[in-house]
Amino acid sequence: MNNINKIASTTLAIGLAMASWNAQARDFRLGMITPPSHLWTQAAEAFAEDLAERSGGEHSVSVFPSQQLGNEAQMVQQMQAGSLDMAFLTIAEISNRIDDFGALYAPYLVDDVEHAARLLRSDVAGELLELMPAEIGLVGVGYGMSGMRQILSRGAIEAPEDLRGQRLRITPFEPIRDFYLAAGTAPMPLPLPDVYDALANGQVDAIDMDFEAIEALKFYDQAEHLLISNHMMFPMVGVVSGRVWRELSGEDRELIITTMNAHLDGVIDSVLEREPAQEAALRGLDITITEADERFFREAIAQWESTWRERAPALATLREAAAVLRVE
Ligand code: BEZ
Repeated sequence: MNNINKIASTTLAIGLAMASWNAQARDFRLGMITPPSHLWTQAAEAFAEDLAERSGGEHSVSVFPSQQLGNEAQMVQQMQAGSLDMAFLTIAEISNRIDDFGALYAPYLVDDVEHAARLLRSDVAGELLELMPAEIGLVGVGYGMSGMRQILSRGAIEAPEDLRGQRLRITPFEPIRDFYLAAGTAPMPLPLPDVYDALANGQVDAIDMDFEAIEALKFYDQAEHLLISNHMMFPMVGVVSGRVWRELSGEDRELIITTMNAHLDGVIDSVLEREPAQEAALRGLDITITEADERFFREAIAQWESTWRERAPALATLREAAAVLRVE
C-alpha cells in the first residue's frame, strides 16, 4: 500500500470509528416544570451528573427546568415526536391521557407521605407504568413524588361551605378538577410557575399545593390561611421518549433505568425526611391553620368516586393495595 492509500484508509478507519462512537454518545435533554431550587429539579441535576459519570463521560443530560421547553402537555408531545428525550413530570398530564392514572389522585387514597411512598413503591403502581409505552409512546421509568396536597387561601376556610365559589388554583388535570368542582369551588387550572403572580394579583382566592412549594416559593406571603387536609398524594414520574428508547442499546437502557430510578427514589426519601420540618415551619408562621380530614370532603369524595370508579378501573386495585399497606 503506498503512502497516499495508507493515509486514505487510516482516515476512513478513523471516520468509521468516529461515526459509530457518535451514534452511541448522546446529550439527552430533560425537561421539567419545577424551578431550579425545587427538590425535583435538584434530583434531575444529580441524575444528569450521575449518568455522565456512570457512562464514563459518553452520555450527558442537559436539564431544562421552569417550563423552558413548554408546559407538561407540550413536553409530552415533544417526547412523542422524539424531539425531547426525557422529562420528570407530574402524573397530572399522564392522567389526562390515560384515565387509569387518575386513580392515583383518589381523595384520601393514602393517609400521609409514608403511606404514599409505600403505594408508589408497590407492584400495583409499577404495573400502571407498563401502560405508558403502548398508550402514549413514553417509557415510564419510575415514580417520585411531592408532599400531600393542602389548601392555602386568602380568606379562612373552616367549613365545607367556605369552599363554595372560591376561585381555587389547581394543577391542570381532570381528577383534581372534578374533586374541586364537586366541592363547590370554581377550579382554575394554572401551572406551578404562574401561581405566585395569580395569588398576588387576586386572580385566584386559594391554591391547591404541598407544604414544600408553599414554603419554598413563599406562597404564604400572599395568602394567610392554611387548611391542612392531606387530601391527595402527588406522584411524579420519570419518563423517556419511546422513539428515543428504541434507538438505545440494551446496556444504555439499563443504565438509564437504574440511574434515574435511584434519583426518583431519592426524591421520595427526601419528601419523607423533609415534610415534618416543612409542616412545622408553616405552623410556626403568622398564618391561620385549620385541620380537615376525609369527613370534611365527604360529599365531594362520593361524587368524585361515582365518576372515577368507572373511568379508572385501576382505582379498585389501588384502593385494595392501599388498604393492605395502611396496616403494615
Ligand atoms: C403543582 O402543580 O402544584 C406542582 C407541580 C410540581 C411540583 C409541585 C407542585
